[in-house]
Amino acid sequence: MIQLKKIVQLIITLGAFGLLSAQASAQESPTYSKDVAPILQEKCAYCHNPEGIGPMPLMTYDQVRPFATLIHDRTSKRIMPPWHVDPGIGIQQFKNDASLSDVQIDTIEAWVEAGAPEGNPADLPAPIEFPSGAEWQLADQLGPPDLIIKSSPYDVIANGQDQWWMPNVPFEGLDQERFLKAAEFKPSYPLGKKVVHHGHAVLMPEDGGRTVALARYGVGKSWEIFPEGTGMRVPTDGTIAWNLHYFPVGAEGADDVVEVGLWFYPEGQTPERETVGEVLFRVDGLKGMARGQDIVIPPHGYQVLTGTHRLDSPAVIHSYRPHLHMRGKVMTMEAIFPDGTKEVLSQVNKYDHNWQIAYIYEEDAKPLLPTGTILQFTSVFDNTANNPINPDPEQWVVFGRRGVDEMSHAWVGITYINEEQFAQAVAEKRLRQETLRLE
Ligand code: HEC
Repeated sequence: MIQLKKIVQLIITLGAFGLLSAQASAQESPTYSKDVAPILQEKCAYCHNPEGIGPMPLMTYDQVRPFATLIHDRTSKRIMPPWHVDPGIGIQQFKNDASLSDVQIDTIEAWVEAGAPEGNPADLPAPIEFPSGAEWQLADQLGPPDLIIKSSPYDVIANGQDQWWMPNVPFEGLDQERFLKAAEFKPSYPLGKKVVHHGHAVLMPEDGGRTVALARYGVGKSWEIFPEGTGMRVPTDGTIAWNLHYFPVGAEGADDVVEVGLWFYPEGQTPERETVGEVLFRVDGLKGMARGQDIVIPPHGYQVLTGTHRLDSPAVIHSYRPHLHMRGKVMTMEAIFPDGTKEVLSQVNKYDHNWQIAYIYEEDAKPLLPTGTILQFTSVFDNTANNPINPDPEQWVVFGRRGVDEMSHAWVGITYINEEQFAQAVAEKRLRQETLRLE
């Protein structure tokens, strides 16, 4: 009897020991199947799949293994996934956060250092399907668009310098004024996804009223959903001014067409708040004068530019999208409140012109700014050889449309509200924070 008890104890001890040692070794060396594949599936494969914009698929061990060292390099330097906002300062809650957590980066590092073992294929996560680039990304949430507008066809050249295609196309399809809820910019697939670098579709109303930017696109930003109860007024008649920047990448094709899908509030419904969408804030200190006239970056040198804008009414900020070119490195957006306090809202500190990312704030993280707030933007340009995408540090760089010239502005998704709406929004935000604290 005693012996049996001992044996049972021994088995328990051995069992516990076995479990512990298994855990310890799992901590020492993560495997592809168990630890790394789920990260790559969630954070990489939607670009790194056979038809995606990433240069190689990263979906199986055989595809990933040859790139293990490069993956370690790009993830540890936070170059991949592309996400250039400074994690050390400003708001960090974004709806479209693509970045890896510190734990995920450490897991990849430990895996590569252990020799990138495959592990047990039985541990692999279930495969997931990626929506084809031919589909509307917002269709899952919103159904098919209410209206689709199309650019006129363009013949894509394989090689050469930046190309601009700026057709004007009549706007048809609305028989009464409507409020826009969401918009998605969809280049053709697969060609357009590779060559359309950025662009926009702006409605110029027939009555000469204020222009309405229906959709703005850059690699890294293809759609916009306005917050609950917020919409953009769209008149019935006018012309769509398309502004498409094609960047030749070695592939050509005739009759390329870009589409924009539009989703509206129901007919006759006026949302509580009317937004102006993304607004351009210049970052060059010269209000109303020749644009960006003061960008003059010396060879092997730096330049810092600041622009300030006073808010004449309260506002909510939804998103932040800096626009610089190849020498642009940093753009900071700060709020200077009427009481003189100052806060960094967001800072992009690893700007890369190949990507035009809109950082879309989580609902509760959206800056809520009183009248009189000053938005202050600061751009930093690096024309030294340390800038890896600098095409030529020997040159003086000035303002211009080409990627090798410079620009300095921010696109800010903003809704101006009245004092009453502001007071209400502040009270609601307090209440939510209070409830969160109590939970
Ligand atoms: C939004 C799309 C996108 C996502 C998400 C993405 N990549 Fe990439 N990746 C690209 C593109 C495009 C390139 C090539 C251009 C560049 O380097 O910027 C690239 C380049 C790379 C390279 C360098 C390849 C070479 O030959 O130089 C590596 C390595 C890489 N990605 C790994 C990853 C990993 C690992 C993840 C996820 C943790 C990831 N990427 C997420 C689009 C993406």
